[in-house]
Amino acid sequence: INRGISPIYEEGLGDLLCSCVNGGSLRASTGYEEAENTGITFICVGTYSGSEGGTDLSQIEDAVRNIGTLLSRKQGFHIVAIKSTVAPGTTERMVIPLLEQVSGKKVGKDIGVAVNPEFLEEGRALRCFLKPDRIVIGESDRKTGDILEGLYSGFPAPVIRTGLATAEMIKYAANAFLSTKVSFINEIGNICSKLGIDAYDVADGIGCDPRIGRKFLNAGIGFGGSCLPKDLHKLVATADELGYRPRLLESVIDVNRDQPSRMVEAAEGAIGDLKGKAVAVLGLAFKPDTDDMRDAPSIRVIASLLDKGASVRAYDPKAMEAARRTIDKQIEYCESARQAIDKADCVLIVTEWDEFRDEALYNGRVVIDGRRALDPEKARAICDYYGICW
Ligand code: UGA
Repeated sequence: INRGISPIYEEGLGDLLCSCVNGGSLRASTGYEEAENTGITFICVGTYSGSEGGTDLSQIEDAVRNIGTLLSRKQGFHIVAIKSTVAPGTTERMVIPLLEQVSGKKVGKDIGVAVNPEFLEEGRALRCFLKPDRIVIGESDRKTGDILEGLYSGFPAPVIRTGLATAEMIKYAANAFLSTKVSFINEIGNICSKLGIDAYDVADGIGCDPRIGRKFLNAGIGFGGSCLPKDLHKLVATADELGYRPRLLESVIDVNRDQPSRMVEAAEGAIGDLKGKAVAVLGLAFKPDTDDMRDAPSIRVIASLLDKGASVRAYDPKAMEAARRTIDKQIEYCESARQAIDKADCVLIVTEWDEFRDEALYNGRVVIDGRRALDPEKARAICDYYGICW
């Protein structure tokens, strides 16, 4: 970071990082001593555990412990703001007691605690940060909320001030709702495909209603990533612990779990038994414009193809390295979409990168589109094309 090199792929981040580092407004450190000269510490560490229903709080605990130790020596008010996604109640139950114990200070009097969730979308993170549609501040006390609201005064977005657990719940509810929209349209799409109806026309038709909205109604192989699946599982687990069974959210997970297999079934429908067949998988990242492989639907698709005896030729413009680390199965990584498609009996479009949207690439091929990357009409004119919800 101090050399101005972004460790992840995110549009615009490299240039911005470079200019901030060169301009002296950003400096990375592996120590906590910077807190001596600052007023606010944001804890932004990961909580992704890789297992269903689990969040890993060890990095948060570690950060709170370290910052608490430093605050025990610091004079003056200091705010610890939790940016990481944590389940409702975590800050009150875990962060505050630990911070008070280690620092010897009282939250709400000597120090402040806030929950300030992020709503960034990978691939659009800078735009989401610079033009947020809302700023949520959960506060331990009014002074802490006022200071944080002041910090965000340059952003033209509504500020919602709440208690700590409410702010945590807003983050979970937002991701649960987005997941629900995706599974909803996928369920409609699964019915549509049996009736020969295009789920995208249906989405356009219902999305004009401002109460529904067109966004997040793109049917396909379902949602992945480090946020929606993890947060949904955690919300279900939290409800279960409280003795409430969240049936709607469970169904959202069920629909999403089965969606990738529809793609493989479509391939079998198109070319028959997959044993001994070569299948090109285009797109490995959980969505375009990122190299993130966490909970990517491609993982499930590839596992199922291999189970059925197919050989896999995979390509992704940015996620090849991450895929090699994530997929511990024998597949062939190709250097381009064209190379993956060559010699393949069937092509699966798993992530809708722009470079896969050129219908001409698939001339004469059998294509299963899991993301509506292609225009079905144009594609059908030159190849054997199947959509999974259209
Ligand atoms: C998600 C939320 O959209 C952000 O608001 C939130 O801040 C973030 O999680 C987080 O909790 O940090 P992200 O994980 O970057 O952001 O990805 P999304 O753009 O939400 O996409 C998630 C998945 O849903 C992808 O696999 C995408 O392909 C899929 N999706 C999305 C669909 O299948 N259909 C759609 O219509 C939209």
